[in-house]
Amino acid sequence: MSTAISGFSKLTKREKIQWLATHFFTDAMEVEQEILAWQHPDQQQQKVLDGFTENAIANFPLPLSVAPNFLINGKLYAVPMVIEESSVVAAASSAAKFWMDRGGFHAQVLGTTKLGQVHFLWNGAPEKINALFPEIKQYLISNAGDLTANMEKRGGGILDIQLLNFTDLEPGYYQLRASFETCDSMGANFINTVLERFASLLEQFLTTFPDLSDTERDVEVIMSILSNYTPECVVHAWVECPIASFAQLAQSQGMDAYQLAHRFAVAVRIAEIDPYRATTHNKGIFNGIDAVVLATGNDFRAIEACGHTYAARDGQYRSLSKCTVQNDLFRFELKIPLALGTVGGLTKLHPLAKRSLEMLGNPSAAELMTIVASVGLAQNFGAVRSLVTTGIQQGHMKMHLTNMLNHLGATDEEAAAAQGYFMHQTVSFSSLRTFLDEHRKVSL
Ligand code: MEV
Repeated sequence: MSTAISGFSKLTKREKIQWLATHFFTDAMEVEQEILAWQHPDQQQQKVLDGFTENAIANFPLPLSVAPNFLINGKLYAVPMVIEESSVVAAASSAAKFWMDRGGFHAQVLGTTKLGQVHFLWNGAPEKINALFPEIKQYLISNAGDLTANMEKRGGGILDIQLLNFTDLEPGYYQLRASFETCDSMGANFINTVLERFASLLEQFLTTFPDLSDTERDVEVIMSILSNYTPECVVHAWVECPIASFAQLAQSQGMDAYQLAHRFAVAVRIAEIDPYRATTHNKGIFNGIDAVVLATGNDFRAIEACGHTYAARDGQYRSLSKCTVQNDLFRFELKIPLALGTVGGLTKLHPLAKRSLEMLGNPSAAELMTIVASVGLAQNFGAVRSLVTTGIQQGHMKMHLTNMLNHLGATDEEAAAAQGYFMHQTVSFSSLRTFLDEHRKVSL
């Protein structure tokens, strides 16, 4: 019988599980044992994992996979990926191999600036606050020095602060928009701490500045928070090759290289034109991006939110990638903002994120941007290549076969027989069930 509870967070982990087991399940004993079985055998490691959130009752495993053979800016990487969709890593690995033989991925970081905002209400004359702003800005920067000193030592800190006037849209609404360089950290905690300092300094400045009227002294800070939209923290990744080098792939699909390259480019163009297709197309890019972001202990919600806003930056949601087929050259590219960190947050705290970063050679945040963007581009290449040739289901269902076999409780022998049979047959849940029924009858 389900029920409300107060003080849940104060219960021990075992008490939490027992409370849940008795109130939300019919097989309380089994559930309790099952949930307890999903704890890390090393208590110290479990303590670290429990520390990531409130009310943790168990771990929720996802596979950590690896896509090898990623040649990026002339350097080979084996890329860690955390994802539950069966065909994603296979597609990334196959695209990596394909491009490794064609010069690999090229990537350039175009900027690393992060942003934050202090939103406030002020009802004086706009000219007055504009005139005061240079002094306000100086006051904010010089009185946040204790917070920024360490970041400055690492080569970062506050880059600029702007005053933006939105009073035509909301009475009295102004914004301080601050830009930051946060070096190898994603920078959320640094930025939010500095912004909250700015907010109190702004109030202090206006309430104590001489010769201001009561209205001009009256400032109300609504909130201070970083912006996850970072259009100046951007990386550009691309691949290119002579169209003729698609010959073998095209031939296997009964096309010539030019036909294949043209179909590919039109498919990408469709995603530039149509937001319905663009959403699925970009989802394919994020299949790769999120998987590496998660494996390296970065914030995939921030990366997704930012990428989708960027995809709509001209007012319509569009493909993040572009393809050109010109002068016998095929070029496929992706420009995407990626605010990533390789220090701070979970990057070194999560034992497998730490190992994932080691696997990548402990890259700087900028190098990680080049890796993540290349994997996004590879994933997009793999998906669109399938879509314009065999269709997606053939590869997808073959990879999904293992999941379905597990679901149907197939033995190793049955699984091997099914793998062989479905090598040349269309996989579906019902065709697999029929195959297993027949196979079991024969084996009796
Ligand atoms: C499936 O997870 C991703 C795709 O739908 C992406 C695409 O359609 O480009 C295959």
